[in-house]
Formats: sequence, C-alpha cells, structure tokens
Amino acid sequence: MPAGIAGQAGVWFEMKIRTLQKKDISAAAAICEKVLLEGGHAKTYFELSLKPTEFRRDFQHLKYFVAEESGKVIGVSGFYQWRAYPKDNGWLGYTAVNPKYQGRHVGTKLLQYIIAEAKKKKLRLMLLEMTSQEERQKKIFYEKFGFEMQGRIKDFWGSGVDQVYMSKKL
Ligand SMILES: CC(C)(COP(=O)(O)OP(=O)(O)OC[C@H]1O[C@@H](n2cnc3c(N)ncnc32)[C@H](O)[C@@H]1OP(=O)(O)O)[C@@H](O)C(=O)NCCC(=O)NCCS
Repeated sequence: MPAGIAGQAGVWFEMKIRTLQKKDISAAAAICEKVLLEGGHAKTYFELSLKPTEFRRDFQHLKYFVAEESGKVIGVSGFYQWRAYPKDNGWLGYTAVNPKYQGRHVGTKLLQYIIAEAKKKKLRLMLLEMTSQEERQKKIFYEKFGFEMQGRIKDFWGSGVDQVYMSKKL
C-alpha cells in the first residue's frame, strides 16, 4: 500500500505498509527498544508471529506489519487475539515509529491499516495496554483514533507505575 506522506519542510516520501518478514525483525525490534518500555520482548513476539499456528499456543492470531520507506523499516504495529478471550477481541501489539519519522503520520497510516485488517477479521473490540509512564503521549495519539480510556491497575509495575487500558469499538 504505497502512501505519500508529508515529511519535514514539505518534502514528500513514499511509504508502504506490508506484513513483517524475518528480514525486518532486527530493525523493527531496534525501533521498539528505542521508543517503548518493552524490555526486549518485542523481538520475541515478532519471531513468534512468523511461526506456524501450532507454535503460537496462547494466540489464535498474531500478526505484525511494518512501514517501509526506500527499503528501510521506519515503523511497526500489529495485533493479536488471545485464544482464551472472546474471539472478536483484538489486542494492539507493539506499535512504534523511528523517532526521525515521528510526527509525519507514519503511526496514523499504520494504525489505519491495523484497524482495517481487524475489521476484515470481523473483530468487535480493539484493546490496548500500556504503562502509566507511556500514558501522556500515547493517550493523545490513540484518542485520535477513537480509543477510550477504560481503567487502570494501580501499582501493577511497582509503586506509582500503573497498567492502563484503552479500547475502541470497531
Ligand atoms: C506514538 C507514535 C506511534 C505515533 O506515531 P507518529 O507517526 O509519530 O504519529 P502521527 O504523526 O501519525 O501522529 C498522529 C497524531 O497524533 C499526535 N501525536 C503523535 N505523537 C504525539 C505526541 N508525542 N504528543 C502529542 N501528540 C502526538 C499528532 O499530533 C497527530 O495529530 P494530527 O493528525 O492532528 O497531526 C510514535 O510517535 C511513537 O512511536 N512514539 C514513541 C512511543 C511512545 O508512545 N512512547 C511513549 C513514551 S515511552
């Protein structure tokens, strides 16, 4: 899906969104490591998303997508479905944009793509979780897509660091 994106100083760049492949894993994981509080887990989930279904155990669906510009991975996002939870609930996976490209609507294009994919799979709700340390920036971003704050588990990560949940009806 090529998409023209307004870059800094009005320069346009071509970006496409496609399924994450094995060759993208280290670049996508490096972006997550840089901008998310993910503790090095993103790489594990990217690898798992490429394994056959029988290896995925807890996940009925687990798929990631990358934003690519001139052959370079500049962002990543995805979604998954827990086997034990309602089949029509999707959870947003690690979503991150290379800091050099942030604010140029790469995140917007990724999220629009994910939402369209989730709708194709007839999902009813999309949920996401984050730490309260990430809340200020992420809440602004996700509210633009209709996600609503649902609640928090206080001190989940330790004293003063909560786990925060948002959801969007699809
Ligand atoms: C959150 C993230 C995925 C958004 O991707 P992006 O490509 O930078 O976002 P976009 O350019 O598509 O922005 C979409 C909208 O969200 C808003 N937005 C994005 N980041 C924002 C921020 N830090 N503060 C305020 N608004 C923000 C933009 O203003 C934009 O609104 P607009 O359409 O009216 O211009 C990306 O910035 C990122 O990876 N951030 C780091 C991860 C993170 O959330 N870290 C939190 C601290 S650990």
